[in-house]
Amino acid sequence: MHDGLYCDGVSLETLARKYGTPLYVYSADQMVERLEMFQRAFKGRDHLVCYAVKANSSLAVLKLLADRGAGFDIVSGGELERVIAAAPKAVGRVVFSGVGKTAAEIDRALDVGILEFNVESQVELELLAVCSRKRKVRARFALRVNPDVFAETHPYISTGLREHKFGIDIRKAAELYRAASRNKWLEPHGISVHIGSQIRSAEPFGAAMERVCELAMQLKSEGIELKVVDAGGGLGIDYHGGVDAKAVTPAAKVQEYAAAIEKALAGFSGKLLIEPGRFIVAQAGALVTRVLNVKKNGQKTFVITDAAMNDLIRPALYQAYHEIVQVRPRAGRARTVDIVGPVCETGDFFARDRMLKPVEAGDLVALLDAGAYGMAQSSNYNSRFRPAEVLVEGKKHRLVRRREEMKDLLATEVLS
Ligand code: LLP
Repeated sequence: MHDGLYCDGVSLETLARKYGTPLYVYSADQMVERLEMFQRAFKGRDHLVCYAVKANSSLAVLKLLADRGAGFDIVSGGELERVIAAAPKAVGRVVFSGVGKTAAEIDRALDVGILEFNVESQVELELLAVCSRKRKVRARFALRVNPDVFAETHPYISTGLREHKFGIDIRKAAELYRAASRNKWLEPHGISVHIGSQIRSAEPFGAAMERVCELAMQLKSEGIELKVVDAGGGLGIDYHGGVDAKAVTPAAKVQEYAAAIEKALAGFSGKLLIEPGRFIVAQAGALVTRVLNVKKNGQKTFVITDAAMNDLIRPALYQAYHEIVQVRPRAGRARTVDIVGPVCETGDFFARDRMLKPVEAGDLVALLDAGAYGMAQSSNYNSRFRPAEVLVEGKKHRLVRRREEMKDLLATEVLS
């Protein structure tokens, strides 16, 4: 039976009819399955998977993962409030990363009792000490070290080199731990690292963890025993795989990643944290959009969809590739088209020179692997309403975010 494309037990046509387009559709089962892959791969050691909220911060997603034991990696006070709203009991499983935390954000995180601050500079460590002294609570911190490891990925999302704004030079970290261990409001709790995103090979993760582990051992020999190492996020997915990708299974990828980390951590008996975002949610999500118009200009054919760069900015921003499939393919010869949105910029494209079967106004197409950094990076550019989101749970589906309306766009504005 093939009556169009499905997300688990639900047809995308049904969803588009019921909830309108553009529409983000997520498979709950796949998100849970991916979380459990990590949990299984590290079951031999004390560990916590801290899902990176920035990848997809919808409350329903956070709750789904929290209910299965996930912790969270956050980078702002806003993300902290999202975790509190979705899963208040998970707040003790939160690590707070980010290069520019404000005193107000730190205060709030101290008050609710997060697991650990991943501190990215000496100045931030000093601020953390001031905040914790004021509140008379000891702050558990990890230094996010910069291991100077090169990870092959897009330059905008590579973070592990000395020239990047992230982390503390690993050669300077020991001195900071020593100083902090003399401050009674600071508890040296862990070391963290995050070398970048969409990294397809396991090797750089292992290399970074080796350096982190060396530092942990050195500190231990000086009497500073850290309970936690945090390997960050970054494991990439296959955006070229399509619906039936089977070449290297995601489970095998996770195994390979876990093996590289375990090897590096052989001498460390504490707890391991990891912060995957994309790998858990990206392939569980699609952006379903309706074709508004098919237009020819000179040699080119443009398929204009009702989704645009404000809904999914990855192609415009990172030249990212997303597989695009017709929900109900038409018969006929495939031809080369550009798939674009209605926003007034040439940069508003989803794909250029892509082969597509005949397509007509009114057809549905799905942009695959859009569950990570899709809705989370959407905007109201061109005064467009951000899309709705639907969570599919087996054969059931429910709206987890309604489509925006004009009142949402005007809510914060003042005329006189
Ligand atoms: N931990 C930290 C400290 C991070 O900065 C990030 C992502 C993660 C974890 C999660 O990384 P993941 O497992 O998702 O690769 N918007 C870009 C990706 C930016 C990633 C930023 N940091 C994109 O759409 O490709």
